[in-house]
Amino acid sequence: MQRDSDFRQAFGRSPTHAVRAPGRVNWIGEHTDYEEGLVLPCAVDRDTTVLAGQAPGHRVRVVSAAFGKAEFDARTPTPKGGWIDYVQGVADTLGRRLGPGAVAGADLWIESRVPPEAGLSSSAALGVAVAFAFDRVFGLGLSPRELAEVAHESESRFVGVGCGILDPFASALGQPDHVLRIDCRDAGVTPIAIGQTPVAMLVAHSGVPRRLAEGGYQERVSECRAAFEAARAVGLVRPDATALRDLAAGGLAELAGRVSDPVFRRARHVVSENARVEAVCTALAEGDLARVGQLLSAGQASLRDDFEVSVPELDLLCQLGDEHEAVYGSRLTGAGWGGCTLHLVRPDEAEAVTAWISEGFAQRQGLRPEVFHLRSAPGAGDVLV
Ligand code: GLA
Repeated sequence: MQRDSDFRQAFGRSPTHAVRAPGRVNWIGEHTDYEEGLVLPCAVDRDTTVLAGQAPGHRVRVVSAAFGKAEFDARTPTPKGGWIDYVQGVADTLGRRLGPGAVAGADLWIESRVPPEAGLSSSAALGVAVAFAFDRVFGLGLSPRELAEVAHESESRFVGVGCGILDPFASALGQPDHVLRIDCRDAGVTPIAIGQTPVAMLVAHSGVPRRLAEGGYQERVSECRAAFEAARAVGLVRPDATALRDLAAGGLAELAGRVSDPVFRRARHVVSENARVEAVCTALAEGDLARVGQLLSAGQASLRDDFEVSVPELDLLCQLGDEHEAVYGSRLTGAGWGGCTLHLVRPDEAEAVTAWISEGFAQRQGLRPEVFHLRSAPGAGDVLV
């Protein structure tokens, strides 16, 4: 294995363990996870691989094929503000959960095939892969769900991105030929089969990079909190309610006028998006792909107009997709502000749609977008060393 020799070149010995964790495409349920709502991701065949072995002492040495070398002391992980924080954060979180010494000296070699800053969850793939690697190397015996929780805590607390559970859960618990309906209130995961569903996933990169920690993500989180607090203050949700998930569509009219217009629209997006996730699950069960597509496109309109996280390049990609008769529906996937769009298309027309979107975008933007035909993939796990 080529990667094996890369590890040997970096550390002068063979790895004892190798793991992988995939990126994800979220079909629908965007910006709902941190308000305890519903999401519907699919783990995809682009993943991050970590080769690892225990080392004497307490140094964790890391070589990333993309980012270079870094190291830290497993006893004192301290945020530095770069990619290494995703590794340090996992070590820190495991130490807090299992006691100091859960992670000690180790060598890690990392390579990612998840396009970065594309909204395909490259950071969660990294965090989940590192969590699996430490689990294997130090014999921690944690379940995939627990390792997803570790990766989530690492990114939200240690790295400082106040994100929800969507990405690490999709990466750790994904299943081939399934999307996962995740209820972010109780973290319940229901796999929904798509193996027999005649649909292909095309993902088009707008060329606009997005950086979660620097973007307006935290602002949206705060706006949603403000909407929820206002709804609670006037009794639109039960007194013991904890999130916008508890606001019924019927309460929205009451909320208007009590909060600023943007804050009202953020709430309207979250409420309508949760309903769209349920509706997509129903339409999938009925094999009604036209309806699935309409719901995706309605989700895009809501992200564009109410949540205001789309950008003109993403709108254009969606518009081009929706113009093609073999496209069921299109929407941005991930947090927005750039990154990728998802197009659900008839499999026999995947190539034609790819050409259509690339051409149309190139003509108007002067730039040919990368279009990936992604397949569903298993969640994180071991690979042969
Ligand atoms: C990012 C976050 C997720 C989720 C999405 C938006 O990917 O990491 O937790 O909030 O944005 O749906």
